[in-house]
Amino acid sequence: MDEYTITFQSEGEHAPVKLTAGKTLMESFDKEISPIRYGCEGGVCGTCLVNILEGADHVNAPDDEEKETLEELATTPQARLACRLEVSGDIKVEYVGFNG
Ligand code: FES
Repeated sequence: MDEYTITFQSEGEHAPVKLTAGKTLMESFDKEISPIRYGCEGGVCGTCLVNILEGADHVNAPDDEEKETLEELATTPQARLACRLEVSGDIKVEYVGFNG
């Protein structure tokens, strides 16, 4: 089974994580120790906002609901919602989050 590596911008932020193909980013972390926080888990609140720093071609395209949320909350074109992110290769992310 394929595995991908998720790297975080700051090495101190979190060690790289191996992700099994077919799982979303959110499904790949133990929520208690995840470097990315989640709220609604449905693409609305923005708590899981991340910037994709490398490997943007290794993630799914945002659906209409995610696009709506990103239009309101994103500050960079690299922004995505981790709860909606499906990964198909190695990526590097920066956790941003949104606290309303
Ligand atoms: S957890 Fe709310 S948008 Fe991802």
